[in-house]
Amino acid sequence: MKVSASFLSSKDIPKDLVQLDHTDIDYIHVDIMDGKFVSNKTMPFHEMRHVGDYTSKRLDVHLMVEEPSKYIPLYAELNTEYITFHVEVLEDIEANLDLIHHYSIKSGLAIKPDTKISSLVPYLPFIDMILVMSVEPGEGGQSFIRNTEKKLQEVRDLVESYHFPIIINVDGGVNSETVKYCSDADMVVAGSFITSSDDFQEKITSLRS
Ligand code: DX5
Ligand code: ZN
Repeated sequence: MKVSASFLSSKDIPKDLVQLDHTDIDYIHVDIMDGKFVSNKTMPFHEMRHVGDYTSKRLDVHLMVEEPSKYIPLYAELNTEYITFHVEVLEDIEANLDLIHHYSIKSGLAIKPDTKISSLVPYLPFIDMILVMSVEPGEGGQSFIRNTEKKLQEVRDLVESYHFPIIINVDGGVNSETVKYCSDADMVVAGSFITSSDDFQEKITSLRS
């Protein structure tokens, strides 16, 4: 199981990023919120870009924004492996996936808990990752929605039936207990479970199985 660490709930971001850099975490999950797609707003790009000053880990960028096309060129400049935006956006999805690929970055589509999996089908040939939200996007520290286990099984069946090389990632409320409901995923995002602890490596290890 790959693990991506979210610093959304971190109280001291530089310190936590340096500490994460000393673990075997696979990615740093960068949550971006515009105050429109979700009501919260994260810091602007000119501040967020400094993530790379504190860690050399690759970034897994999660855009919770109405207009991904405004953010993709910015985050493509960083040490970014994945840029993920939501299938619920109103902008043209294929055009945004093309834009991500134009920068030779891997693309992901995120899906909110109440959105039907069938909405992903038209885009399966063009994406590298599906990010299944196990909480309503918008804030860290929420409880894992139990029904996500079933949704992950359905996403796994879908991806396998089409033979697409897509990785499945889960985001929200993941900890050493709820990770057992994520056996159909290839990767999990964990925020507060890691950053509220005083032993990041121990928490990361407990999520791998
Ligand atoms: C929720 C964010 C998540 C969140 C994960 O909107 O997309 O990435 O920060 O944090 P935890 O693990 O605390 O739920
Ligand atoms: Zn996220």
